[in-house]
Amino acid sequence: MSSARLQDRVVIVTGASRGIGEATALAAAREGATLVLASRKQEGLELVADKIRKLGGKALPLATHMGEPTAIAELFAKACESFGRIDALVNNAASNPYFGPMIDIPESAFDKTFEINVKGYFQACVQYVRHLRERGAKAGSIVNIASVAGLRSAPMQGVYGMTKAAVISMTQTLAYELGGSNIRVNAICPGLIETRFASAIVHNPTLRDMVVKRTPLARHGQPEEIASAYVYLLSDESSFMTGQEMVIDGGMTAT
Ligand SMILES: NC(=O)c1ccc[n+]([C@@H]2O[C@H](COP(=O)([O-])OP(=O)(O)OC[C@H]3O[C@@H](n4cnc5c(N)ncnc54)[C@H](OP(=O)(O)O)[C@@H]3O)[C@@H](O)[C@H]2O)c1
Repeated sequence: MSSARLQDRVVIVTGASRGIGEATALAAAREGATLVLASRKQEGLELVADKIRKLGGKALPLATHMGEPTAIAELFAKACESFGRIDALVNNAASNPYFGPMIDIPESAFDKTFEINVKGYFQACVQYVRHLRERGAKAGSIVNIASVAGLRSAPMQGVYGMTKAAVISMTQTLAYELGGSNIRVNAICPGLIETRFASAIVHNPTLRDMVVKRTPLARHGQPEEIASAYVYLLSDESSFMTGQEMVIDGGMTAT
């Protein structure tokens, strides 16, 4: 382990089997954290857990559907059973099942997007805060991933954008209500990042160029460029920061 900004902290990362979640779990492990890894498929989580163990860290992979409240409760119960406590929560898993004009989205896709991206994040926050209160914790940190799609119009991804705007709202109100308990709540709003989630844009030259042309740094980002912000927001380096959305988009929203 190179340094210890998260030494011995137990951190739950959802959507940890690939992309930004995987990069975040690895970055947190390098900073000394113990990781609880959640996503739907155990197989992907085991691969990430192996990488963390090779770094000398500890990881517990737990297959969890973040749209199911019972599964979310079980995730927290098992994490506590294994490590005795949870210090921080990264709400990162999300769903975006529909790409097209907002008005035509099937109701089932609308419901799924809200179930995972909004209700799932909220349920995880509820479980985490209950846990902190039960053990009389003196501090806590939640980092929710939103998106630039929650800050601006999100053509062809309108309902997804609505859920990300809801995540920003949830972040601000939780920060307000939990600040007195020294529980910090922040959000990250990435622009286009090269992951499977964004592959329909990153690997389509027309769509990618449309985004890159509006981006001062003239490129898309990599998961590690988001992971480093997660580590900052989880660590004490950001101890006076709460209720904020950190935009990491190559400057796109500055144009
Ligand atoms: N990539 C971008 O350009 C971009 C931009 C802005 C915001 N974001 C946000 O970044 C976050 C991570 O996305 P990514 O780009 O890293 O995507 P990714 O590489 O496709 O990873 C998505 C992760 O979420 C998990 N997941 C999906 N549905 C789930 C569910 N119902 N329950 C639990 N886990 C679930 C996936 O694993 P399983 O398949 O095993 O469940 C996977 O680990 C998302 O919240 C996304 O909205 C991404």
